[in-house]
Amino acid sequence: MPPILPLNHDSLVVAGIHIRAGRLVAFPTETVYGLGGDATNGAAVAAIFEAKGRPRFNPLIVHVHDIAAARNLGRFSAMAESLAAAFWPGPLTLVVERSETSQLSDLVSAGLDTVALRVPAHEGARDLLEAAQRPLAAPSANRSGRVSPTTARHVADELGDAVAMILDGGPCTVGIESTIVDVSGRQPGLLRPGGVALESVEEVLGRKVAVVGAEAGVIAPGMLQSHYAPGLPVRLDARRARRGEALLGFGPAPGATLNLSETGDLREAAANLFAMLRALDRPGFAGIAVMPIPERGLGRAINDRLRRAAAPRGEPERPDS
Ligand code: TXA
Ligand code: MG
Repeated sequence: MPPILPLNHDSLVVAGIHIRAGRLVAFPTETVYGLGGDATNGAAVAAIFEAKGRPRFNPLIVHVHDIAAARNLGRFSAMAESLAAAFWPGPLTLVVERSETSQLSDLVSAGLDTVALRVPAHEGARDLLEAAQRPLAAPSANRSGRVSPTTARHVADELGDAVAMILDGGPCTVGIESTIVDVSGRQPGLLRPGGVALESVEEVLGRKVAVVGAEAGVIAPGMLQSHYAPGLPVRLDARRARRGEALLGFGPAPGATLNLSETGDLREAAANLFAMLRALDRPGFAGIAVMPIPERGLGRAINDRLRRAAAPRGEPERPDS
């Protein structure tokens, strides 16, 4: 078991040393825990793919401390600038054209000429970026295809010895991964719904943003629906539990085993989603039935993760693991 250390000055100094030596450190962000490594070090990036069991054609998000650092790694169009100004630091990832002088490992963007960049809001993540003095490649700190971790304990349960240490910053407040918007071309595209609502992105850009991820049916070769999967079968849009099932409620639901948000608050539901899926994923239940979630605001991201959790299993991996 790697050490789980509370985030403080001393643990950050050690974490910075690990990162610069090419080792991996798990750390909290406002969305989910990340599995971080030096994005300029090909061996460190390869170790991330290895630890997750993630296919190498699936590029990683690169985290930086501020927009100035981001501009060194990619080309910022007017659209990219306005989204960064509105939502950074925060749960938004921008896919931009990669700059030729970036020194990022090629593996980090899987050989593409674009790169996904994010400036996280979590103070611990920001402190780690300063301590490491490197851009951090960081996918969610779970095995590929499994539910994303929102506590340090979840990371330890799944990744164990693959990381040099786990920084514990408590539970993640957003609880669902960042929204990914592709602003590398002339038309913006939503690659993954997440912690920033699509409606908010469209308001800042003053235009509609096309959904170009798997929701639009555009699935890259070898990539697939099943994802964020608990061990038990998941049934969506349930009004009540069938025999043996656990019921994951939303809104008033007296019979619910657990409730994402009794008041029907989508932010609260997003923050609870992954931890509650993990909690219900026990052999004592025959399956997990989930009540309907409205398809607006953060509900879009919640439904995206739930649809993948409910999708048929055992096929090859989909992009965002
Ligand atoms: O909230 C988050 O974004 C978390 C925390 C740790 O920051 N990170 C995360 O990273 O979810 P990851 O690596 O699991 O998500 C990567 C997603 C994948 O869907 C990948 O296909 C997409 O970003 N992606 C990365 N680079 C890309 C690129 N150049 N073009 C298109 N998609 C890209
Ligand atoms: Mg992931």
